[in-house]
Amino acid sequence: MVDFNFFITSNYRKLTHKKTFTFSAPSNIALVKYWGKKDNQIPANPSLSFTLSNCKTITSLTFTAKETKGISFDLLFEGQPKESFRPKIQKYFERILPYCPYIEDYHFTIDTQNTFPHSSGIASSASGMAAISANIIALEKELVSDKDENYFLQKASFLARLGSGSACRSIKGEMVVWGKTESIANSSDAYGIEFDYEVHPNFKNYQDSILLVDKGEKQVSSTVGHELMFGHPFAEQRFAQAHENIAKLKAIFASGDLTEFIKIVESEALTLHAMMMTSMPYFILMKPNTLEIINAIWKFRNETQVPVCFTLDAGANVHVLYPESVKTQVLDFIANELSQYCQNNQYINDFVGNGVEDLTQ
Ligand code: DP6
Repeated sequence: MVDFNFFITSNYRKLTHKKTFTFSAPSNIALVKYWGKKDNQIPANPSLSFTLSNCKTITSLTFTAKETKGISFDLLFEGQPKESFRPKIQKYFERILPYCPYIEDYHFTIDTQNTFPHSSGIASSASGMAAISANIIALEKELVSDKDENYFLQKASFLARLGSGSACRSIKGEMVVWGKTESIANSSDAYGIEFDYEVHPNFKNYQDSILLVDKGEKQVSSTVGHELMFGHPFAEQRFAQAHENIAKLKAIFASGDLTEFIKIVESEALTLHAMMMTSMPYFILMKPNTLEIINAIWKFRNETQVPVCFTLDAGANVHVLYPESVKTQVLDFIANELSQYCQNNQYINDFVGNGVEDLTQ
């Protein structure tokens, strides 16, 4: 059990100057899905993800010292006031306050932008919460002198998790594991850790083309979906399966076995949606075109033996995953056959990346 008190900062300076930090954080795509959580954003099962490169949030945080204590911030989206984001950020600040009491000493101006279209249906909560957490940790680094880089990395992920669970997997590393599980040393429910085992060249620079099937507002939010895993008839089985799949993937990453990789990744995606369809109330987030794409991928893979597969998030969009070595063939396939199933033929080509970047000037 992790002692969360480890992340409470109690001895800190107060700065009187004004300063702006800027950090970018990428989105990530889970191969083993987080679905179900306990109190305080503790996952019901471990998850494992590829960090992405192109789908990013860039967030600047300006702090100014103030006299009275309390949470105080202004929110901008692409330079313009954005009040609709306020409740989420307010909740985030309230959750991190016990660990970062210094935030009450400052007024913050937070300006954020995404590299992907806002209405694309791509969840920006993972990249957004990771980016703001990286900024908070940059501030903390100026306030304390008794902590090392490893502590700050863990705490950035810990804070991001309090904003949105999957965000803790967007801080550092190409592959990240979040959630205590036997096969991964030092794994934790409190923060994500870099997958630190052998990775076969087949998985280097793995590609992810995100097909934008439906940009509409989701009918059931992830938060509600997680809650529906309470009392779900298949929950225990599912949670156990996630542990097993991480252990299997660890061996697959070492051996480079793409056939086995595909089996696990596609099964995880369909299991996630099976959990939605079998919860009470039940719901379906896939759209007809999600199924068209899945079937087209299966047909193409059968006919060509190209090791391309899919995964899904809590939505209708499809992530098409493939090794860099087959990039040309898969991009042709997407342009010629799959793009017709996307809204306005839109998709985003991404690939595995490394996490947060400091863009402070
Ligand atoms: C299906 O991280 O968005 O994408 O913790 O409530 O913010 P909250 O949920 P969120 O859930 C993501 C669920 C998922 C699977 C995954 O990314 O592991």
